[in-house]
Amino acid sequence: MDYESRLNELYNLIEHHAKLYYDEDAPEISDFEYDALVKELKELEKNHPELARKDFLTHKVGGNVSELFAKVQHETPMLSLDNVFNNEELENFFTRINLENFKAENFVCEMKIDGLAVSLIYEDGIFIRGATRGNGWIGEDVTANLKLIESVPKKLKNAPAGRLEVRGEVLMTLERFRAVNEIRTQRGENPFANPRNAAAGTLRQSEKNNHVISERGLDIFLYYIVDAQKFGITKQSEVLKSLAAWGLPVQSAWEFCENLSDAQNFISKWQTEREKLNYVTDGAVVKLNDLTQWQKIGATSHAPRWAVAYKYPPEEAKTKILEIQISVGRTGVLTPVAVLEPVRLAGTVVQKASLHNADEIARKDIRVGDVVKVRKAAEIIPEVVEVDKNSRTGNEKIFKMPERCPACNSEIVKIQGEVAFRCMNRASCPAQLKESIKYFASRDGMNIKGLGNTLAASLLKSGKIKILSDIYKLKLEDWIGLEWTNLKKGEKITVRKVQKTMAESLMNEIENSKSRPFVNLITALGINEVGKNTAGLIAQHFGNVDAMINASEEEIASIEGVGPVTARSVYEFFKTEENLNLINEFRKMNFRMSGDSAPVSENRFENKIFVFTGTLATMTREEAGEKVKSFGGKVSNSVSKKTSYLVAGDKTGSKLIKAEKFGVKILNEQEFLELIKT
Ligand code: IVH
Repeated sequence: MDYESRLNELYNLIEHHAKLYYDEDAPEISDFEYDALVKELKELEKNHPELARKDFLTHKVGGNVSELFAKVQHETPMLSLDNVFNNEELENFFTRINLENFKAENFVCEMKIDGLAVSLIYEDGIFIRGATRGNGWIGEDVTANLKLIESVPKKLKNAPAGRLEVRGEVLMTLERFRAVNEIRTQRGENPFANPRNAAAGTLRQSEKNNHVISERGLDIFLYYIVDAQKFGITKQSEVLKSLAAWGLPVQSAWEFCENLSDAQNFISKWQTEREKLNYVTDGAVVKLNDLTQWQKIGATSHAPRWAVAYKYPPEEAKTKILEIQISVGRTGVLTPVAVLEPVRLAGTVVQKASLHNADEIARKDIRVGDVVKVRKAAEIIPEVVEVDKNSRTGNEKIFKMPERCPACNSEIVKIQGEVAFRCMNRASCPAQLKESIKYFASRDGMNIKGLGNTLAASLLKSGKIKILSDIYKLKLEDWIGLEWTNLKKGEKITVRKVQKTMAESLMNEIENSKSRPFVNLITALGINEVGKNTAGLIAQHFGNVDAMINASEEEIASIEGVGPVTARSVYEFFKTEENLNLINEFRKMNFRMSGDSAPVSENRFENKIFVFTGTLATMTREEAGEKVKSFGGKVSNSVSKKTSYLVAGDKTGSKLIKAEKFGVKILNEQEFLELIKT
């Protein structure tokens, strides 16, 4: 590819990934890969300045300002740091600095904390305002949210009088990160990719949601004082000591350095030592110690010249794939996992790596017995980067996905249009049960109040449940002592134990749930693709459990609003023996298993807009409109692209033509009557 095309490609790539990183807190690539793209861009721009986009984001300090918060102008811009990636580049930094007389305490080396940069302002020692870096000049006012972080002091000890601005990083410790992701996984939410995203996503919350800050728990480390010399401070080492003396948290991993080789020692020592820290660092920062030198040396538009960040690469290692195992996820998706010859990587001994799915294995041509390169960055699960094909002996074995579930031995299905292979046994596959219990008990399901995520998990752990219907066989004493988690707004997430009164109310709820409407039972089964609305359509169409179980795939697909993927999933669900056993268990227990005008089907027209035209034979247009509204739909007088249905009676006119033009679905009266049938 020529340099001009590559440059344009880099602009697009960087823009895309910067947006994911800064605005959505959901990166797709590691920081290291992002930095490598930026580095390549900078080099190309340097060689072809005529093609460089001067206003591109890499020429500014990263990060955008969200509309959620009031804007704050930083009196002193919040700069970024220049990165170096190897010893040669680090040496260039030392050469540029060119200190004539090297002496001890020339430099301070610190860890580069992988968090979210913030500025805190204290007035006479009282915390009055806090802001994110934003674009470096304008940040977001997150004062209220910062006050919810325990380690942000609201009042300083022996602080100087007047205004004091300090800067640092908000972070989530690894311990909290693991706990938060555990809870998110239990709730069926996506876990955060890494602690930095978790911290950023947690701090930048609207007022309505800021209770998550106390629940999840954030921390802070400070490393900078704006205009420190105003307070008689002349060294970075004194900055760190003063911050600590005022009661502000400071990282303990910092050291004096005299010269390049000292800095190199610090960097390589902490490259491994950092594994022992309770927070993520993505590099080391080397800073000139003498603040008067800072002023002399100055800064570029985006970074000071008196400091540099040495970025650690994600660690890679070579090892062998001994075996490929299958792990069954909470929704039955089968994930192939490589079992590796143990290898040391980023501080831990790695024995497994995710291979994602069968397509990925085929794309990388991964075989059992292959020598592969594995990579791990921060908290991200190790992955197989590539196969070392030169090491092949011919004895490597091509991998095939299994035909039966390794956890419960039921048949595996590959749904058309999906990459995933799935175990359809929602009812009793041990790998899926936890998720199934939670879903089963949820409000749109059997609505068993009190049976939430953690309780479902500890119930499963207790070994008292092998199949969903076992919930109805539990006795009072089975519940007592099980762990559950409070999720009350603003409270720190803590684990509690079920007491007798809670157990009694759970037993009551469980008994009552047997008579929930048919539609709730269908929802509760947790059939993939079937939420409460689809369950409503199915319940209405079949009217009872037997008609539903015995239906052909075509009949299910013929239901208005049910697509072919959903139909396949429903059909496969009732072809699975374990699921049929479950239904029989429910039948024996006298569950309500046939049609009713279920409460959720009342919402069947949610987000649907109806337009009526012509005369209806069986009702007035007003009555028809009332019917639509009673099912949560809307009625409009004119046809637009947003119209869901045009109901056409006799003597119709221009609306029909318009509906055809926009591709709006047109119903005759009979079809409309079918839709509103209860
Ligand atoms: S000093 C004038 N020290 O890394 C800029 N920054 O990638 C002074 N960071 O913008 C920054 N740990 O948000 C400094 N020990 C440390 C740091 C640190 C993390 C952040 C900071 C900076 C970013 C650059």
